[in-house]
Amino acid sequence: MTTVKPGFSSHQLSMLRSDHAGEVGAVNIYKGILWGAKDSVVVAFANSHLEVESRHLAAVESILTPENRSIFSPIWVIAGRVLGIMAVVGGKNFLFSTIASVEEFVVEHYERQLPYFHGSVRELIIEMMSEEDTHREDAAHRSAKSFPFWELLVKKGCSLAVSASSRF
Ligand SMILES: [Fe+2]
Ligand SMILES: [Fe+2]
Repeated sequence: MTTVKPGFSSHQLSMLRSDHAGEVGAVNIYKGILWGAKDSVVVAFANSHLEVESRHLAAVESILTPENRSIFSPIWVIAGRVLGIMAVVGGKNFLFSTIASVEEFVVEHYERQLPYFHGSVRELIIEMMSEEDTHREDAAHRSAKSFPFWELLVKKGCSLAVSASSRF
């Protein structure tokens, strides 16, 4: 049975569970990119984003106890790695477009949660949201091409992951 941490409603816990899943995914997307990337610009890009995502993950873990995290966490690790590797294989424009789509999804995801939190957790979500937006912008301006069908697919995948992780 899920233990509700005092101070969080079950709705808030389900939102934080999806945030945790998202940050696990994000860390692993950048690790996947670093695993496959040879281009020094891509490596520097992924390293700088990974540093921020690791900080986000640690922050969410500091407020969401392990028993409240998604039971699918190993899947979010694998999905992130696979997406990161796929992004590298597709070339630079494809990679930056993929990241821009993921980060755009995450910004909207955090934005939707703002009405439900207050105090320090709300501050944290605002801070993460603004850093994800920096990531989105950083990726978007590096891509000279768009991949509309793929970008839609990526956002659909993120949306499915949010549905699953907010429940389980
Ligand atoms: Fe993040
Ligand atoms: Fe990000």
